[in-house]
Amino acid sequence: MQNLNSEVRSAVITNGAIQLTWTLGQISHLGTYWLRDNCPCSLCRHPGNGQKLYEIVDLPRELSPREAFLAENQTLKVVWSDGHRSSYTQDWLIAHDLSEQARAARRPQVQLWRGDMAASLPAGDWPTVVADPVAELAWLERFSALGFGLLKNVPTEPGAVAEVGDRLGFVRVTNYGRLFDVKSVPNPTNLAYTAVGLGVHSDNPYRHPSPGVQLLHCLESEAPGGDTLLVDGFAAAEILRQEDTVAFELLTTLPMTFHYADGQTDLVAQQTLISVNRDGTVTGVHFNNRSADWLDAPAELTEDWYAAYIQFGRILKRPELELVFRLEPGQCLVMQNDRTLHGRTAFDPNLGRRYLQGCYIDRDAMDSRRRVLRRTITTPFTYLPPPQPARALATAA
Ligand SMILES: [Fe+2]
Ligand SMILES: [Zn+2]
Repeated sequence: MQNLNSEVRSAVITNGAIQLTWTLGQISHLGTYWLRDNCPCSLCRHPGNGQKLYEIVDLPRELSPREAFLAENQTLKVVWSDGHRSSYTQDWLIAHDLSEQARAARRPQVQLWRGDMAASLPAGDWPTVVADPVAELAWLERFSALGFGLLKNVPTEPGAVAEVGDRLGFVRVTNYGRLFDVKSVPNPTNLAYTAVGLGVHSDNPYRHPSPGVQLLHCLESEAPGGDTLLVDGFAAAEILRQEDTVAFELLTTLPMTFHYADGQTDLVAQQTLISVNRDGTVTGVHFNNRSADWLDAPAELTEDWYAAYIQFGRILKRPELELVFRLEPGQCLVMQNDRTLHGRTAFDPNLGRRYLQGCYIDRDAMDSRRRVLRRTITTPFTYLPPPQPARALATAA
C-alpha cells in the first residue's frame, strides 16, 4: 500500500471537502458523500453485521463537513452539516486510499503463466487440504493467482468430484446434472465417446453466467495420449493487447453469441471473448469454437472482428503457452473457467479406458473461503493480501 510508511499529518476542509495530507506529502481528497456513506457508527451500520441501516436517499440533499480534525492515533473526526458525527481510523483511511497506486495494490494479484510451469504445478494433497486450514489457504491462494490448481489423492470413486465441489464451494446443477462423464472405453460402439483432440476452450459460454469453476477428476487413464492442455487465457489476452490493440479492443467490446440446444434445452448467451474492467484489467476470457454461434454486430465491423478472433485463436495455439501434463487417476483439476482454458491431446480409446468426471461450482464460494481463512492465518504464500475488512462481513445481501 502506498501509505504503509506514511501517516496522516493533517486534515483540513478546502472548498467544502476534506483534504488529508500524509507525512510523505501525498494529498487525498475525500468526497463528501463517499466519506459519509462509509461512516462506521452504530447509527449508520448495524454493529453486529456491518450492514447499512439507512437508504442512500436518507442522506441530506445538501451535505458538507462542518468540522474535520485529527484525534488520538490520527483518527479522523468529522462533524457534518446535519450534526452527524463520524470517526475514521487511520488504518481505515490507509486501507481505503483511492490513489492510483493504492488501488492498483488492492487488485487481485494475478500471476500470468506459460507452458513452462509443468514442473511446478500448483498441487495440493486433497486429504491434507481438507484437514489443514493452512494447507487449504495456501492451495486457494495459488488457485486464485494462477487460475487453476491440482488436487491429488482424491478417491477414485465415481461421484467423488461432486464431493470435492461441495467442499470447495457448492456444486452448480445444470441441464447436464450435478456432474458429467467424460468417458471412453476400448472399441466404443457410440461415436459420442470420441477420442479426438480438443482445442483449448472455456466451458459453457452459452450460460448466463457461465460456470465460474470447472472440476475434472480422473478415474481412469489407461489410453495413451489424452494429455491435458491448459492455456492461461489472461496471458494470451495480454499478448493480443501488446501485438494488436485494435484487435484487443474489438474482442473486448463486441460480444459473440454462444448457443447450445438439444431436445429439452435452448441456452443462449452473449459474451465478449475478452472482458476487461474500467481499469483495463482483463477479468475474463470466453473461447469455445463449438458453441460460438454468430456475431450480431454492425456489418462494417464483422470482418475486423473475425480477423481479431482468428488472431486470438492463433495465439492460444502457440506451443510456448500450452501447459501439457497427464492427469492421473486420483487427481482432480480445478480451473477458473473464464481464465484457464482447457483441452486435450488425441488418444486411442482402443488401447485402454479413459474416464473423467466433471462438475461446476461458482467461484465466489472459493473466494469467500479464502478470505475467511485469511482472517486467522498468515499465509506463507508471497502475494500481498488486500487489507483485512475493518468489520465483520455482512451476513447476506
Ligand atoms: Fe470442456
Ligand atoms: Zn454514522
